[in-house]
Amino acid sequence: MSKVCIIDHPLIQHKLTFIRDRNTNSKDFRELVDEVATLMAYEVTRDLKLEDTEVITPIGPCKTKIISGQDVGVVAILRAGLGMIDGILKLIPNAKVGYIGIYRDPETLQPVEYYCKLPVDLAHREIVLVDPMLATGGSAAAGIQAIKERGGKKIRLMCLIAAPEGIRTVQERHPDVDIYVAAVDECLNSHGYIVPGLGDAGDRLFGTK
Ligand code: PRP
Ligand code: URA
Repeated sequence: MSKVCIIDHPLIQHKLTFIRDRNTNSKDFRELVDEVATLMAYEVTRDLKLEDTEVITPIGPCKTKIISGQDVGVVAILRAGLGMIDGILKLIPNAKVGYIGIYRDPETLQPVEYYCKLPVDLAHREIVLVDPMLATGGSAAAGIQAIKERGGKKIRLMCLIAAPEGIRTVQERHPDVDIYVAAVDECLNSHGYIVPGLGDAGDRLFGTK
């Protein structure tokens, strides 16, 4: 069974309060999601492998460590995952970036995939799949499946807010994928929205409603 890591650092919890607030406008919402993605990336990448290297300090040679940015891939589920990409790239600027277009059918709540463009050498990369919302879990499970079908092996999922149902779905379908979230909320409502959640992440990021 995969690990569920709730990243409850005070800075993240503080910013999440304003992300949830319905009075927060799109500009502030985008900035806050970007900041929280950076803060979460710190924890999500905690176990990345380091390589030995050497630099010369002003005093002399120093044996030290380096993360090979080439070994990381960040994949966003469109649209809302886009809001988390830059925040991660601030810490790992050389990571390769992929996109999977998935929307949730409003009637059936089933994920519909419409686009997929991923780094070619997925098999060797540590993949961080990002989407702010893990509701039924259908979109995330489909995104993980799409990555696996194209060769991805080492995948972790990073979301802002999850419902217990979504965590369960991903753990059942992809027990090898660890899940990192800032909060686990109560439940889903009859329209499949997380309660209390933050509303529609894509619409709030891009001002479409
Ligand atoms: C939202 C969200 C997730 C999905 C979560 O996307 O960003 O991708 O719903 O729901 P699930 O866990 O029940 O699958 P949405 O379908 O609204 O698409 P959009 O980002 O393009 O608006
Ligand atoms: N998608 C969202 O954007 N928000 C939810 O609460 C559930 C799915």
